[in-house]
Amino acid sequence: MSAVSTIEWTEEFARAVDRLIDVSVDDYYNPYRTFEWPESIAPNDLWMSRELLSVHGTAAEKELSHEQLVELSRWESVNLYSLIAHGIRELLIEVMRRIHTPGYEIPTPYFHHFIGEENEHMWFFAEFCLRYAGRIYPDRRMVFPTDERAPEMNNFIVFSQILIFEQIGDYFNAKMAADTDLPETVRAVNRIHHRDESRHIAFGGKLVKALFEEVRRTHSPEEVEEVGQYLRGYIDLIIQMLYSRDAYQDAGIPNPTKFRAAVIADPARAPITARITERTNNFYRRIGLFH
Ligand SMILES: [Fe+2]
Ligand SMILES: [Fe+2]
Repeated sequence: MSAVSTIEWTEEFARAVDRLIDVSVDDYYNPYRTFEWPESIAPNDLWMSRELLSVHGTAAEKELSHEQLVELSRWESVNLYSLIAHGIRELLIEVMRRIHTPGYEIPTPYFHHFIGEENEHMWFFAEFCLRYAGRIYPDRRMVFPTDERAPEMNNFIVFSQILIFEQIGDYFNAKMAADTDLPETVRAVNRIHHRDESRHIAFGGKLVKALFEEVRRTHSPEEVEEVGQYLRGYIDLIIQMLYSRDAYQDAGIPNPTKFRAAVIADPARAPITARITERTNNFYRRIGLFH
């Protein structure tokens, strides 16, 4: 069983797990009764904050009419929620593989809450897409490593990918929850998700830090450097998926492939990407993986 963990969890980690479980229990809600789900959502309003659109700041943005931006905001929000739903499926598979296995006795009680909450998130994001856009975009892949690596390295990568995915998603959720110009249903799904994710991210940070200490004890500096490169590639992959050819096409933009390439290459995007990934980069600098 390759997922076996030999890690020694600290007292502090065990206490944090207990605390997060208490908060999960106190914050528990019935997602199937939480949302209003109106018949339709204001078709003339932006569904995604202007500054979160993938075209924000670019030369291409200036070529779009207000109507096109509104249309794009609808399809980019569908892309974001589709990414989240697909990402959740993949991360649930990995957490399921580890719950109640040797080495995971301490985090396992929290995994139950995590799994339950993520199933509900997947439901409400998919529900939003299906109700208001009639579709979920297909999975453009969330790669979790195969079992070629040592188990402790594999565990570190898997939980890092979950943390990175949650931190980047939360950048969008937090901003959209706070944006009073967005329709209430849009704000509500983002707000509820942001609240639950703040616990998952707190847990993930502690878990990944502990797993990284194990990796550093058992692997050469070169191997540690290599896994750092791997995770940087994963961050890039998530960023790339925010530029959705499907969304450009559904928004009626001519030649969406060419449009996507131009938007990604626009120099205005680099500082925006730096902000989106700032929390993740700071975290990996703090634990000593990124320099
Ligand atoms: Fe979630
Ligand atoms: Fe989560």
